[in-house]
Formats: sequence, structure tokens, C-alpha cells
Amino acid sequence: MSKRIVILISGRGSNMEAILNAHIDNVEIAAVISNRPDAKGLPIAAAAGVPTAVLDHKNYSSREAFDQALIALIDTYQPDLVVLAGFMRILTAEFTGHYHNRLINIHPSLLPAFTGLHTHERAIAEGVRFHGCTIHFVTPALDHGPIILQAVVPVLPDDDADQLAARVLKEEHRLYPEAIRLFAADRLVIDAGRVRILSA
Ligand code: GRF
Repeated sequence: MSKRIVILISGRGSNMEAILNAHIDNVEIAAVISNRPDAKGLPIAAAAGVPTAVLDHKNYSSREAFDQALIALIDTYQPDLVVLAGFMRILTAEFTGHYHNRLINIHPSLLPAFTGLHTHERAIAEGVRFHGCTIHFVTPALDHGPIILQAVVPVLPDDDADQLAARVLKEEHRLYPEAIRLFAADRLVIDAGRVRILSA
């Protein structure tokens, strides 16, 4: 049976688009949901024939109230997996607990280095030679949780943040569909806080 996936976005949606374009076996994109009505990714999803919805966080008085409404909306699509793709919200422990082991995120750094924002600027400022992106299961701690896949890119001497971000983003677009492919094939096992990838 195919896995139902809900993708959460806040903006551009290029990772979402890469996932849609990958047409992953055994995966049905049940919906794309944004917390911002003007997210550029929404019309892209709609044009691909994917149901879209908006839940504007500005209409909720607390993080808890928003997350509860978001859970209720997501669950109408009965997802097997919830995919955060540039969803710029800090999630409550209630939310992450509700989707325990079926919520994944992409972060533009080699975690556990550079959690949080402005990862490319910070990588350049630290003078690291390698940078990249990480796909991980989401736990209550921001940008932590069992790592599924990582991709590494070099940091070149004259890079600015935009050049480095573009190099990383190319890898993000390759890696996210691959992680979802592994999930859909039941090849990801979480064992003592680490992800084991079963061979095909
Ligand atoms: C990506 O760099 C992702 O790693 C980060 O936010 C950005 C979202 O870009 N979490 P997009 O909306 O997928 O184009």
C-alpha cells in the first residue's frame, strides 16, 4: 500500500517541488500545507495537482493553539509521514510527540553543527572546509533527532553565503526524495536514537 505524505512549507518550496518531481514509488502526496498564505510553493503544488491548504499562524493566540489546529488539519489527510520542507516554525513537544517517528526535517548544515538559522553565513565565518545538509527525524529539541541522510559539499575560499547556499540546496533536492524513498520502502529503522538503513 502506498504511503501518504503531507508536506509543510512556509516559502519558496523548492524542496517540496523536488519531492513532487521525483514521483517516488509507493508515495502519494496527500497535501501541501503552508502557515503563510503567500508561500511561493503553494501555486507550484496546486499546478502539480496536489491538494493545498493554509493555516495562518497569525490567527492563533499561542503556539500551542496553532499546533493543535495544525495537527487536526494534517490528520484529515491521514498521513504516514509528515515532511517539513522549509517550514519556519518552532514546534511544540505536543506536535513532535504526536508524529513521533513519522516526522522528518531537512536542515542546511551537517548536524549537529550549526543548528538554527543563518547556517551558511556561520559556516563561512567558522572557516569550516565542509558543509552540507541533513535529513533527520524530528524530536522536541530544535534541529536534533536521529539522522537519516547527510550530504557534504566543499566550502570554497571565496564563497559567499549565497554561493554556498546554492551548492547545498542542490544536494538538498537530491537527498530529500531519497530519504522519502527509503521511508516508503520501510528501510529506515530507528534504533537507540540512530537510524539504520536496511539494504534493499
Ligand atoms: C532549505 O534550505 C531548507 O534546508 C531549510 O529552509 C530552506 C527551504 O527552502 N530548512 P525551500 O522552501 O525548500 O526552497
